[in-house]
Amino acid sequence: MPTPQSPIGIFDSGVGGLSVLQALRHELPHEQFVYLADSGNAPYGDARGDAFVQERTLAIAQHLCQQHDIKILVIACNTATAAAVELLRQQMPELPVIGVEPAIKPASFSSQTHHVGVMATRGTVSSQRVARLVTEHSQRAQFHLQACDGLAKAIERSTEQPLPSDAETTEIRALCANYTQALGQFGQKTGQMDTLVLGCTHYVFVKDDLRALLGPDIQLLDTGAPVARQTRRMLEQRSLLAAEDHESAAAQELAQPAQIQLLTTGALPALQAAAQRWLDLPAQCCSHVNVPSASASVATA
Ligand code: DGL
Repeated sequence: MPTPQSPIGIFDSGVGGLSVLQALRHELPHEQFVYLADSGNAPYGDARGDAFVQERTLAIAQHLCQQHDIKILVIACNTATAAAVELLRQQMPELPVIGVEPAIKPASFSSQTHHVGVMATRGTVSSQRVARLVTEHSQRAQFHLQACDGLAKAIERSTEQPLPSDAETTEIRALCANYTQALGQFGQKTGQMDTLVLGCTHYVFVKDDLRALLGPDIQLLDTGAPVARQTRRMLEQRSLLAAEDHESAAAQELAQPAQIQLLTTGALPALQAAAQRWLDLPAQCCSHVNVPSASASVATA
């Protein structure tokens, strides 16, 4: 039975969800975190299909509950949220679950030109969940959706060495350039997109490349901070917030390495490189894990 001292579980197809973990570390500096990257099966969003992503989501949620007694699960993956959050809530109703979805609603309010670009995986772009979101907010803005095949994979691959190679950096920039061009005209004039939604948690790590392509005036929206605030609210409602250590409370603004466990189903050095490069976390936080298929009772119930 989870208690306020139990960890918060977070998962993604790979290292992209580390961008959400970073927002959670700031919002909830007294919590324990266990993050699972399913890098052995990434990417989810190009061609895996819903059935595969649903099965992995159930298997990982089960694993985090059974092995780590998590008190809440944050699905730090737009693709898995779109494909599996409803199924997961049905099958594990006792587990509080927070999903992430592209920032379409906030973009519809903040865009001045009422034209918004959305970059996401093919799985997310073609999901019913995103179709519903777009329809709900289409009175305020027109959304231009772009499936970015290969981009999450290239970002994932760029962590295989401590630093990305020149070829990897060039490939990522070329993919960003192709997809932003395919979306159309960005700018502040009528009919131009003044806002770009990063609808995949991996893309947060190429924000600088996107900004270099689009210029400083285009608003780039991701969902790390709002998801972290939502996690706090949900824990508060359930009286599951971790007790603060009052002696260090004033000083601590960020959850420290000792509070964080990072697991990967893929290559350990890749997770270590990503954790070090993007979150300044030491290699000792990371370990390899096997997550077998969800038990038949959950997968087929
Ligand atoms: N980071 C994930 C997302 O937010 C998925 C990337 C992938 O595995 O395709 O959609």
